[in-house]
Amino acid sequence: MAAAHTPTYSTRLLAPDTWQDFAALVDRHNGVWGGCWCMGFHPEGVKNAQSAQDNKTAKRAHVDRGTCHQVLVYADAECVGWCQFGPPAELPHIKNSGAYAKELDLLPDWRIGCIFTASKHRGRGVARAAVGAALVAIRAAGGGTVEAYPEQSRGRPPQRGAYFHTGPEELYANFGFVRQRKIAKWRWVMRLTVSADQREG
Ligand SMILES: CC(C)(COP(=O)(O)OP(=O)(O)OC[C@H]1O[C@@H](n2cnc3c(N)ncnc32)[C@H](O)[C@@H]1OP(=O)(O)O)[C@@H](O)C(=O)NCCC(=O)NCCS
Repeated sequence: MAAAHTPTYSTRLLAPDTWQDFAALVDRHNGVWGGCWCMGFHPEGVKNAQSAQDNKTAKRAHVDRGTCHQVLVYADAECVGWCQFGPPAELPHIKNSGAYAKELDLLPDWRIGCIFTASKHRGRGVARAAVGAALVAIRAAGGGTVEAYPEQSRGRPPQRGAYFHTGPEELYANFGFVRQRKIAKWRWVMRLTVSADQREG
């Protein structure tokens, strides 16, 4: 049997010139979760009263203002996934924020927020490419402590990727993130310290 085709991916940052690629991916997925447009972690959050169009407009405004860090993953010319990251002021709303605050020792320099792979491209390393590129961007921006808030997948029935809103633990463990504390039955704070890129520009 012929070996399965393993796609290679390229990455770019979400910016005004890549907005259309991101928007096409979100539109193909009905706005993602009914129209959140990846706004849940941003200061505005996703309120029930907001429409999908409001969320799209708010996201575009973040991109235009430069208050949004996000890696886009491409298979050829098609954007097939993303990884959002940023300092806590940019991404203040994490899931289980009450439990998170209870044992908070220090805020991280960076958070990884929303992660998403197009439904037809799951299980082929898109999220891995997205997180890898986000860590490269964080290193280039000076590094520091990075937190992710993934879900435990071991010790429970297999979960569809669709329910891993913040990604599975293995995705981050493979980059060296370690469990810091539990904030929900299946959700952990995981941390990684990333050093600054020492290369001269
Ligand atoms: C979770 C999600 C991002 C994974 O993306 P993906 O591109 O399929 O992941 P990858 O193929 O890069 O896999 C990365 C790692 O995660 C693990 N993984 C991926 N899906 C998994 C699953 N359903 N169960 C357990 N582990 C899983 C893989 O085994 C892999 O680990 P490995 O490197 O040890 O092999 C994807 O399923 C998704 O987009 N789900 C919807 C998330 C969502 O709704 N986001 C918006 C939130 S508002």
